[in-house]
Amino acid sequence: MTGWGDVDLKWKLSRAVTAALGVALLAGCATGLPAGGITPSVDSAAASAPVEPSPTATVTTPPPTASATPTPTPTPTPTPKPGKPAKDTRKGAELDIPYTVNGIIVVSPKHPVSKKYLPERVKPNGLTAETQAALDELTKAAKKDGLTVKVRSAYRSYAEQAKLLKQKIIEYGDEKKARRYNAEAGKSEHQTGLAVDLWDGKTWGDGIRNTKLGKWLWKHAREYGFILRYPPGKEKITGYIYEAWHFRYIGADSLKFKPNDTKTLEEYLGIS
Ligand code: DAL
Ligand code: ZN
Repeated sequence: MTGWGDVDLKWKLSRAVTAALGVALLAGCATGLPAGGITPSVDSAAASAPVEPSPTATVTTPPPTASATPTPTPTPTPTPKPGKPAKDTRKGAELDIPYTVNGIIVVSPKHPVSKKYLPERVKPNGLTAETQAALDELTKAAKKDGLTVKVRSAYRSYAEQAKLLKQKIIEYGDEKKARRYNAEAGKSEHQTGLAVDLWDGKTWGDGIRNTKLGKWLWKHAREYGFILRYPPGKEKITGYIYEAWHFRYIGADSLKFKPNDTKTLEEYLGIS
């Protein structure tokens, strides 16, 4: 087993534990139980305390007076809501660093980066080391299932992305269409080193969705930390049309996505 295999197994296990805890907590919420389980309350402690002797008949209780102040009703404690992600207010030089939610980088039309943003990358695809290691594992697993995974495109610099969009506008002869498939410079995940376009070496484009590999990837990529980033029917949220080839590495959080999930990263992070 490789070093990555160990890490992979570890995060899978840790996610399983987290998921089990999450289920338990959710079950508590659904039944009106406090999150975190039941703890002995002050009332139950008082119930087991020694009972005070009752007052005898010679003791009279004074009648309530008009000026007696009513006991205030305790205000119920509001259930804490999970924190909303901080708004992306970056501008100027702040765009040299990407917008991040819960440790997950988001680069999109709404969350751009500057040309100065340059992640650490490794050969041969310019992906981050972690992304490349995960891709190697995914490729091995697909091979075991008799499938070949080829990288069509991985890291693209700001300048390369600008050139690509320009070329595609000419190639399609339709700027609107070209922009549905291709990001403007600074708005492409390919600049992060976390995104990769995969294919079988034979069928490229929309046809990928019907290939054995295309189907396998949408089902299994999540097991290796990747999600299908632009699922069908979500263009309004992601800014891009369905791309059966574009996979985004997000690490262990990918297990929160189901096989063939059409959930977007924006929906998952609560920023859609
Ligand atoms: N194809 C995706 C949207 C990109 O150009 O980044
Ligand atoms: Zn892509």
